[in-house]
Amino acid sequence: MATPTDQTSIIEVRNLVKRYGDATAVDDISFAVAEGDFFGFLGPNGAGKTTTMRILSTLLKKTSGTVRVAGHDVDADPDAVRRSIGFAMQEISLDNLASGYENLQLLGVLYGLTPREARTRAEELAQVVGLAKVADRWVNTYSGGMRRRLDLAGVLMHRPRVLFLDEPTQGLDPQARRIIYDYLRRLNADGTTIFLTTHYMDEADALCRELAFIDKGKIVQAGTPAQLKAGMGGDVIALKFRPDVVLEQAERVVRSLVGDKTDITRGGDQQISVAVKGADQFVPRLIEQLDKAGTPPLSLSVAQPSLEDVFVKLVGRSFLEDDESQLVHGRDPFVAGGEGQS
Ligand SMILES: Nc1ncnc2c1ncn2[C@@H]1O[C@H](COP(=O)(O)OP(=O)(O)OP(=O)(O)O)[C@@H](O)[C@H]1O
Ligand SMILES: [Mg+2]
Repeated sequence: MATPTDQTSIIEVRNLVKRYGDATAVDDISFAVAEGDFFGFLGPNGAGKTTTMRILSTLLKKTSGTVRVAGHDVDADPDAVRRSIGFAMQEISLDNLASGYENLQLLGVLYGLTPREARTRAEELAQVVGLAKVADRWVNTYSGGMRRRLDLAGVLMHRPRVLFLDEPTQGLDPQARRIIYDYLRRLNADGTTIFLTTHYMDEADALCRELAFIDKGKIVQAGTPAQLKAGMGGDVIALKFRPDVVLEQAERVVRSLVGDKTDITRGGDQQISVAVKGADQFVPRLIEQLDKAGTPPLSLSVAQPSLEDVFVKLVGRSFLEDDESQLVHGRDPFVAGGEGQS
């Protein structure tokens, strides 16, 4: 992540605080995003993601701190900030009783294009997001994925340098998500800086070059996905045992091999996981010792740590802590479902 003094930063946030009455939603955060970056802001419900994003896009007044976007201070020159950015909000706002083209053209005109320019740009963008065939239809006939794509096209009418996306794929099926991912990658490759918030760790891992984890209004860690995972101390070995195996006994065997300093995580459903370096050497010894102790595993898998693993290690709980089954199987939020979590 760029530092707030970096010359090339397109977003600079210093000591940002937002209070609602006694509650502190954003608690003294500082970070910077370099021009052209694909930046992910990850955190559980209520972490402060939307609040931060609304402040950065001039929709909400901060309590204190400084924020500059595209070289302009959000308080001193909010209009200049608005001209430089596009903002796709968590809640989509489209006119249902108008066509896709009409929605896009209206936005274009609001952003200062002539009606003719707006029509041309609307046609271009409808093509890009795969809505050209339906763009003459009223929006109330669109599916959720189509509405999200139209919303994304809308915020691009004025060719913003920075795009803010708040949970852009929430509630969409995997295919609709992939279309949006491809589109965002292309936009970013063409130079648009993207600032994304999401609950979906796989999504952040696949798309973002830089990430910051936010929890309870504070940034708990930042870095590239690879840097964050490297901090985990190796590959994650997940073991599953038969119902009759006493898990404490198996855990003692694992403990005897990894020492006291390594975290061993127990999941429900007879599972244990542990991160180790050099898993290929470790696994044969582990199986041998487990066999010897009369606690052979039913299954064993070795995987690179996920961002979810990193978050659990940093804050001691899962994003999906309300749902134990998702915690255990949390590697693939596309399969685990995860709609309507916001
Ligand atoms: N208008 C408001 N008045 C009072 N409290 C608010 C207001 N808006 C947000 N909050 C509180 O501020 C905190 C941060 O909320 P925010 O919407 O930024 O979280 P978030 O990270 O976007 O969460 P989610 O993942 O659910 O979208 C929460 O505790 C929320 O209840
Ligand atoms: Mg939010």
